[in-house]
Amino acid sequence: TTDLTGLLLSRIRDVPDHPEPGVVFKDITPLLADPAAFTALTDALAEVAGDTGATKVVGLEARGFILGAPVALRAGLGFIPVRKAGKLPGATLSQSYDLEYGSAEIEVHAEDLTAGDRVLVVDDVLATGGTAEASLELIRRAGAEVAGLAVLMELGFLGGRARLEPALAGAPLKALLTV
Ligand code: PRP
Ligand code: MG
Repeated sequence: TTDLTGLLLSRIRDVPDHPEPGVVFKDITPLLADPAAFTALTDALAEVAGDTGATKVVGLEARGFILGAPVALRAGLGFIPVRKAGKLPGATLSQSYDLEYGSAEIEVHAEDLTAGDRVLVVDDVLATGGTAEASLELIRRAGAEVAGLAVLMELGFLGGRARLEPALAGAPLKALLTV
């Protein structure tokens, strides 16, 4: 609803020239510090989990953990962390992806996702889509099904939605805000 949009927008702070000149960083820490706004955000994302028929919630380190864990609990689902490479102790599946300069790698415990799981990926921001795309690859490689991708905020001008179309393969991408 418009009320939710206004509440969320009012708690996201624009920080000019962070982390580098010309970039406007979207800071969600005021939203996290406001329990009413954080609850409204959690409820809205948990509703997406219900709508998509998800059986598990994946959160993307680090900011996707902050949002994804309460969403999973609210929706009554298990939470699965997708971590930056080298952090998970068990047998993992890894996926690397390109950054503006260089590359990055994310991992999931192989035993956490199996055939029959329907997975909703939760993150704070969809920018170029590189991080989300790699997570969708991981889910499929683990043998699970992608239920959808839910983010607080989509940076529309970066084209992440179009990039993700093949990886989503018809699964929904829900952004509560588009900026
Ligand atoms: C940020 C953001 C998203 C990702 C979006 O994470 O939280 O996960 O970038 O960018 P993309 O769509 O271009 O991949 P980042 O890894 O910078 O930091 P974090 O550990 O604070 O989440
Ligand atoms: Mg992130």
